Amino acid sequence: MELFITLEGPEGSGKTTHAQLLANWLTERGYDVLTTREPGGTRVGDVVRTLLLDPIYAGIRPETEFLLFSAARAQIVGEIIRPHLEKGGIVICDRFADSSLAYQGYGRRLDQDTVRTITAFATGSLLPDLTLFLDLPVVEGFRRKQSGGQGKPDRLEQERREFHERVRQGYLSLARAEPVRWAILDAGRPIAEVQEEIRSRVSERLATREGASGVPVQVRRNTVQDPSLTSEERSDDE
Ligand code: TYD
Repeated sequence: MELFITLEGPEGSGKTTHAQLLANWLTERGYDVLTTREPGGTRVGDVVRTLLLDPIYAGIRPETEFLLFSAARAQIVGEIIRPHLEKGGIVICDRFADSSLAYQGYGRRLDQDTVRTITAFATGSLLPDLTLFLDLPVVEGFRRKQSGGQGKPDRLEQERREFHERVRQGYLSLARAEPVRWAILDAGRPIAEVQEEIRSRVSERLATREGASGVPVQVRRNTVQDPSLTSEERSDDE
């Protein structure tokens, strides 16, 4: 069942935790799931990730930054994402092209049309089937990161609060403009509750797909809270 799901959101919104929980749940239900993340996910992409996130490269130009994100993206699409979709699997990607529209477009104020054109070139116009936007106030996201004790903030995290506010508002504009692809989720709730909503959104998408293709629907619409969530998973660890 080919399905491309992305998770987007500001810092500390819990994307990584939810990507993993969703992947485990789908795998248990017999789906062929691949989880990956941007920037990174490939050997080349991991090198680019270091260039992008290490605070020693503080002088990086917004244009350079965007092109590096795009370079890593072209690699992950060609090497990892497309091949898995083509063999009929589900791909869950922790951030994708919408991160560039939000961070480099709205955050850095690069021209949106240019960002879209170059992104289409990098991805071969691949679009997610479902984008889960984990929405959270900027201050709350940083509070979570700090209390998670995750070491020194990276170069993007060190940006001013105004930058992150623009990113969040940018995400909301993108999501409202494409309500069929995007699902806006309140990430301020307990992890189990957010995950439950995520599973329900994904189930709907799968049911539509499987209904259309004649394949039996394996996932029920009404999901229950996962009792296997540990207290660690319930805490906000992103
Ligand atoms: P990461 O450690 O993966 O953080 P997070 O857990 O928030 O996803 O760092 C990725 C950072 O890169 C994050 O601050 C968002 C930023 N980013 C962009 O600015 N543009 C992009 O296109 C992508 C994919 C990420």
